[in-house]
Amino acid sequence: MASVRIGTIAAVPEDAGTTFEVNGRKIAVFRVDGAFYALDDACSHDDASLGEGEVDADELCVACPRHGALFDLETGKARTLPAYKPVAVYKAWAAGDELFIEY
Ligand code: FES
Repeated sequence: MASVRIGTIAAVPEDAGTTFEVNGRKIAVFRVDGAFYALDDACSHDDASLGEGEVDADELCVACPRHGALFDLETGKARTLPAYKPVAVYKAWAAGDELFIEY
C-alpha cells in the first residue's frame, strides 16, 4: 500500500461524491463532515458509479444511483438489496488542500 495523491479536496463537495481514476481503477471519494471516505466506484450489484450516488450524511452511506442499494461509507458493506457484496474501501485523507488515498 502506498499513499497516492489523487486530486484536491475542492473536487469533492460536502455530502457528495466524486470519482477519480487511480492507476486505471475508478475510486469514488465522499466528503461528510470534513472527513473523506473512498470506495471502489463500481457498485457490486451491476457496476453503477457510486460516485454519482446520493449521500446520506446522517447514516454515513451512499445510495447506488441505479437500483438504490445502500453502501456503508466506512466499511463498504452493502446495507440493502439488491446489492449484497461489499465494495473495497480505502483510507482517504486531506493534507492541506490535497487529497490522498492509501492504495
Ligand atoms: S447497480 Fe447498484 S444497486 Fe444495482
